[in-house]
Amino acid sequence: MTRTSTQKIEIRLVTKQDVPALQAHLKRHFSESGRNGFHFFPYAPDDPIGPSGIDIEKIEIPIGEPKWQRWFMAVETGTGKVCGHVDLKGYALRTSSHRCLLGIGIEEEYRAMGLGKRLMQTGIDFARSIDTVDWLDLMVFAHNTPARKLYKSLGFEDTGYSKDLFRIGPVSIDDVSMTLNVATSTR
Ligand SMILES: CC(C)(COP(=O)(O)OP(=O)(O)OC[C@H]1O[C@@H](n2cnc3c(N)ncnc32)[C@H](O)[C@@H]1OP(=O)(O)O)[C@@H](O)C(=O)NCCC(=O)NCCS
Repeated sequence: MTRTSTQKIEIRLVTKQDVPALQAHLKRHFSESGRNGFHFFPYAPDDPIGPSGIDIEKIEIPIGEPKWQRWFMAVETGTGKVCGHVDLKGYALRTSSHRCLLGIGIEEEYRAMGLGKRLMQTGIDFARSIDTVDWLDLMVFAHNTPARKLYKSLGFEDTGYSKDLFRIGPVSIDDVSMTLNVATSTR
C-alpha cells in the first residue's frame, strides 16, 4: 500500500461522536504491540485485561477535575480512517492536578513520516493552553528508541528508570519516565 502523506492527515479533538472510529483504530493499534517481538504496551497479547482505551464519560470531565481525559485523533482526509491518536489524562489525585499524562500511538503504516511529531506538538500545545497544568508526563519502554528520540527532541527529560517493571512472557522490560515543563512564563 502507498503511504499517505501526513499533509493529507488532519488532527482534531475527539468528540463523543468520534468514539467508535477511534476505538476501531485503538483495536488495530493495540494488536500491533508485540508483533515481531517489539512491545510498546505493558500487556501480553493474550492478557484478558487489555489497555483501557478511551473512556467516553471522562472526555466530558472538566479539565482540572480528577481523571479528566482529552483525546486528539489523526484522520486521513480522503477515507476518514483514524490512524493515530494522542491522549492527555489527569491523575486520580487532586494533589496531582497540576500534572497530566500523555499517551500516543500511530498505526504501523503511518509511522516515521512526521505524524508522531505533529501529534506530540498538538498534545504539548494543548497542555500549555491549560493554565492549571504545569507538567506533562509520559512513560515509555526503555527499548523504544524511536519514541524516546522523538520525546527528547521535543524537550522531554528523563525523570526515572524502572528496571524489570514489566514481564511479557520471557521478556523483561525496563521503563523510563519523562516529563516536560509546560508552565507558561506569565504564570
Ligand atoms: C513512537 C511514534 C509515536 C513516533 O511517531 P512517528 O510518526 O513514527 O515519528 P515521526 O515520523 O514524527 O518522527 C519524529 C522523530 O522520531 C524519531 N524517530 C521516528 N522513527 C524513528 C525510527 N524508526 N528510528 C529512530 N528514530 C525515529 C526521530 O527522532 C524523528 O525525528 P527526525 O524525523 O528528525 O529524524 C510511533 O512510531 C508509534 O506510534 N510507535 C508505536 C507505538 C509507540 O511506540 N507508542 C509510544 C509508546 S510510549
